[in-house]
Amino acid sequence: MLCIPIIGPTLENAKSQIKRASCLGDLLEFRLDCIKSWDVSEIKQLLQKAALPTILTLRKKSQGGFYPGTESERLSTIQQLAKLEPDFLDLEYDIPKAFFQEIMKEHPHLKIIVSFHDFEKTPKDLEGILTTLKKTPGHFYKIVTTAHSSLDALRMLGFVKKHRNLIGLCMGEAGIPTRILGPVVGSYCVFAPLYKIGTLPTVDELLNIYHFKSLNKDTRMYALIGDPVDSSIGHLMHNAVLRDLRAVYVKFKVGPNELREFLLLAQELDIKGLSVTMPLKEMIVPYLDVMEEAACNIGSVNTVSFEHGRSLGYNTDAAGALDAIEAKGQIKGKKVIVLGAGGAARAIVYEACKRGAKTVILNRTKTKALKLAERFGSRGGGLENLAEESKGGYDVLINTTPEDLSLDPEWILPNTLVMDIRTHPKNSSFLQKALEKGCTPIYGHEMFINQAISQLEIWFKNQIDRNKIKP
Ligand code: ATR
Repeated sequence: MLCIPIIGPTLENAKSQIKRASCLGDLLEFRLDCIKSWDVSEIKQLLQKAALPTILTLRKKSQGGFYPGTESERLSTIQQLAKLEPDFLDLEYDIPKAFFQEIMKEHPHLKIIVSFHDFEKTPKDLEGILTTLKKTPGHFYKIVTTAHSSLDALRMLGFVKKHRNLIGLCMGEAGIPTRILGPVVGSYCVFAPLYKIGTLPTVDELLNIYHFKSLNKDTRMYALIGDPVDSSIGHLMHNAVLRDLRAVYVKFKVGPNELREFLLLAQELDIKGLSVTMPLKEMIVPYLDVMEEAACNIGSVNTVSFEHGRSLGYNTDAAGALDAIEAKGQIKGKKVIVLGAGGAARAIVYEACKRGAKTVILNRTKTKALKLAERFGSRGGGLENLAEESKGGYDVLINTTPEDLSLDPEWILPNTLVMDIRTHPKNSSFLQKALEKGCTPIYGHEMFINQAISQLEIWFKNQIDRNKIKP
């Protein structure tokens, strides 16, 4: 269920929030400690405007709220609010038990959410916290912690999956996946703001990007891992396709030191597949059970599929790049110059050689180019060698470096195919120069789309119709 907090700060603001939220969510949480100057009769009127079930919350400061008065004033106000008969009342776990018992006795239809917040960390012993909370009578238990890493978020998701009548999520940017995947792991509800607050996904984002209303325990989970991942747009394209395949795709920031534990937790959580980006493409190899031929030869993986308890590694970058080039012209027997000698260059050279091209690798650090060239039976040299190579002619020129290389325009030959594998900026000065020479440009996003579709084909086999996917 999607719960939308109503936060004011004025009663007028709250009214318009209720109106909008009532069309989008499943539940409304009235955060009365965020709304300024009201009396109980005004809240009664607000409740009448709500077309959805409601939670009333009057959070105290030690649990992250803004209620300004004393604790006894707060408890007495809560008693009055309970008489308004909302559907749920959120009460902090450390309120005296007798208070809970009294409220439950007087309002048998009211459902109590016993809540716990940790603003510093996600404690290791989440089970222990739930055991403590359960000593207090209630209908639902809510545990909200602060995630400092994707491992914290995964632990929270795994924990929630083991329980019923639990609301579990993490605050902080690293906790975002817990706010998307709640319905998949069975969290009773997920909270999302109507309007952007920091990096939290909004109601609109959950509904439109992650098709939140269709997520449930049968939804298959997929994820992008790497660092950085925040600027990646893969989740937009993947989720648009996954909507019809009962699956969802989220991003986890994962650094090299977290990779091992992440993979264990991801498998425990039954994540079905991963997209892998920098800096993990090579580091992930030793952790995988099986490597498909291209990934094995390239030594890097951008796609993982978890099947029957095994992890399978694939590389769809290489074919993605070459398919983008060959959409503009065949490369068999053609001379292809690759600028750069990193992981992307290795993938492209491997695939280009496999498809019968004659490759030349030119790199800032010449020794790296020579080493790579030796491995694939190509020629290698420094970037400056492009002057010499251009005199001899070539058919395809590919920039695989992260730089917008400023090359002598003389080195870019007219009417060739020129590719820049970077997606930003689309029109790099490298490609601009090529366009001015009458070359055919191949943009990074063309490779990106191809590799992404190939990932989907690995995960969903023949359920994917490549021709129907609109980038
Ligand atoms: P990836 O695995 O994504 O291809 P990488 O392994 O970091 O990335 O490789 C980046 C490539 O771009 C390297 O070949 C690098 O050259 P060096 O081997 O000399 O480091 C090249 N590169 C990075 N910055 C560059 C720059 N400013 N000018 C030229 N080449 C650059």
